[in-house]
Amino acid sequence: MSKVISAHAVSVDGYITCRGPGAGRGLGHGTMLFDWYFDGDTPSQVFDGFRLSAPSARVFDALAGRVGAVVAGRNTYEDSDHFGGGSPHPTARLFVLSHRPAAEITERQALVTSGIEDAVAAAREAAGDKDVGLMGGGVVTEALKAGLVDEMVLHQVPVLLGGGRPFFQALPGHVRLRLVDAVPAPGVTHLHYKVER
Ligand SMILES: NC(=O)c1ccc[n+]([C@@H]2O[C@H](COP(=O)([O-])OP(=O)(O)OC[C@H]3O[C@@H](n4cnc5c(N)ncnc54)[C@H](OP(=O)(O)O)[C@@H]3O)[C@@H](O)[C@H]2O)c1
Repeated sequence: MSKVISAHAVSVDGYITCRGPGAGRGLGHGTMLFDWYFDGDTPSQVFDGFRLSAPSARVFDALAGRVGAVVAGRNTYEDSDHFGGGSPHPTARLFVLSHRPAAEITERQALVTSGIEDAVAAAREAAGDKDVGLMGGGVVTEALKAGLVDEMVLHQVPVLLGGGRPFFQALPGHVRLRLVDAVPAPGVTHLHYKVER
């Protein structure tokens, strides 16, 4: 069965955006969470226009190549200007998880309003033998609560943002993680965990 993976760029103090994210403003002003996408000399083989350091390109492309469908939370969808009617990934179909209708959803996207289990099930079907990627702290939290997350990657950026949208949200209990890989790279450390069950 395909895996469910979460890979997010996170500040050391646990934020996935700067202050003031939103439609037209992306991750907010002054954030450097994604600088490592563009400040290297190795082109991504999956995402056009990304130029990463060699170690980051290896990690990033290996993950991006696994993803066959994406489940994003409504906040991510709104703050990313609806991904221009497409997907955050060049080949993976987007499923947006929300409690309410979304008039802007296109035929290249799908809205799921019946919960995280249904969103992940629909994404698994679309992904075929590839994996499902999660986007957004709220969605990852819901998926952790439902026991659906297999792997978590923190692309940890050495900055204390001091505010923004927190990645880590309240859980009903402990979730044990096992570090399976740690790759230091210019401007980011890639921490790859498996979720223990
Ligand atoms: N740094 C990174 O790598 C990275 C990656 C991805 C996203 N981001 C950023 O992170 C921010 C969003 O993160 P977030 O944690 O605020 O929000 P999120 O996870 O994107 O979205 C949360 C929303 O999803 C809906 N939702 C969540 N669980 C649900 C459930 N079980 N059933 C139905 N709907 C459910 C709810 O929307 P409604 O109740 O409003 O319908 C909820 O408010 C954005 O600014 C995005 O750009 C950063």
